[in-house]
Amino acid sequence: MKAICSAIAMSMLAAGTQLHAQQYAMELVPPPDEHAKTHSTAVRHLSRPATTYAANCAGCHGHSGRSVVEIPTLVNRIGYFARISEGRAYLVQVPNVAMSAVRDEDLAEMLNWLLNAYSAAQLPSDFRPYTGAEVTELRKVRIIPWSRRKELIQALVAAGQIPSPESLE
Ligand code: HEC
Repeated sequence: MKAICSAIAMSMLAAGTQLHAQQYAMELVPPPDEHAKTHSTAVRHLSRPATTYAANCAGCHGHSGRSVVEIPTLVNRIGYFARISEGRAYLVQVPNVAMSAVRDEDLAEMLNWLLNAYSAAQLPSDFRPYTGAEVTELRKVRIIPWSRRKELIQALVAAGQIPSPESLE
């Protein structure tokens, strides 16, 4: 009887130790705020448009303008759209841009920054920066992004602005 009791006690003790070990392991992972304080990249100073991008866009598009396959790559691509007026409009009318919480002036500033930072080589040489007033008008229009994108790629190829549809794939 004594032996059985101590066997039960031992196994309870072992289970308890395991539980402690698990709790301890969980405590070793710092909460997000602590992580931000100790990692220099998290406290890096960003310009205002870069901060707007980080807060509103990077969650899907990634900080480097590349993300998962379902989400279009921005880097070395989006400047092509600015080569024709419908494409210039598209960059504002894409749903997550048009319907973002970012105010018109800030959206114009951020798009100008984004195009220059991520896709300067594809921009037309006569690119005019977006203005807040232009964004106000453009973002009122709702589009179906994937079908509009297809039409734009055809238009860009027809206008000789991109070598082939693959340039935007
Ligand atoms: C919830 C995820 C999400 C967020 C947030 C988001 N996007 Fe997108 N973005 C997408 C998806 C998905 C597409 C493809 C078109 C569509 O389905 O709307 C897209 C398309 C685009 C395109 C067109 C690219 C192309 O090649 O056709 C641009 C430009 C763009 N987004 C910029 C932005 C900017 C700037 C922001 C921040 C204001 C932003 N997106 C926020 C998911 C997102």
